[in-house]
Amino acid sequence: MTQDELKTLVGQAALQYVVPGEIVGVGTGSTVNKFIAALATMKDRIPGAVSSSVASTRLLESLGIRVFEATEVDELAVYIDGADEIDGQGYMIKGGGAALTREKIVAAQSRRFVCIADESKLVQQLGRFPVPVEVIPMAARRIARQFAALGGTATLRQKDGQPLVTDNGQHILDVAGLAIADPLGFESEVNQWPGVVTVGVFAHQKAAVCLLGTASGVRTLS
Ligand code: 5RP
Repeated sequence: MTQDELKTLVGQAALQYVVPGEIVGVGTGSTVNKFIAALATMKDRIPGAVSSSVASTRLLESLGIRVFEATEVDELAVYIDGADEIDGQGYMIKGGGAALTREKIVAAQSRRFVCIADESKLVQQLGRFPVPVEVIPMAARRIARQFAALGGTATLRQKDGQPLVTDNGQHILDVAGLAIADPLGFESEVNQWPGVVTVGVFAHQKAAVCLLGTASGVRTLS
């Protein structure tokens, strides 16, 4: 099976976690796009979704799924999103699609995080994928030096020759070279640095369940 087919498989498998009658939290990325396409088949059984990005909102609405503001909803039963890396404990690196801040907000509002990913995303230890960090632009250079002190190399993410601007009007540093042995401690530490909006390690908001697309079908890690 191709990587695209594995994404379709887990996108469809995630439907079993959607609670009929309840608003669902929706992440961002190519795997989530497969989930959104599947979700459209049961749109009459849910009130709608809370979305983690402008891109997902557009796709949801184009398929006739109502999108609620996060502020209109107290708690969500489930949040479904992809990952750039996930380990056996459900700790993840996210933010490859630059949506990490809203993803973490919607995840924190949800009782259960269901991660959908193809098997290439499963790792022993987080850190091979450069860690995305959303930062306030005036702090970017100092934060890059703080990562250098930890052995990381931070690069300002670009789009069309300019620093990428997130849905929140901020910048992204991609930090390579970090071996993250303690995801909870790493997330807590970087969260303290002035100018950091969101670090793309999801340890405090880890996945409760991961649906992993493999050549032999969907493997469920929980
Ligand atoms: C976006 C994300 C995505 O979930 C992550 O990058 C995985 O994306 P894809 O499903 O396209 O591989 O965190 O900010």
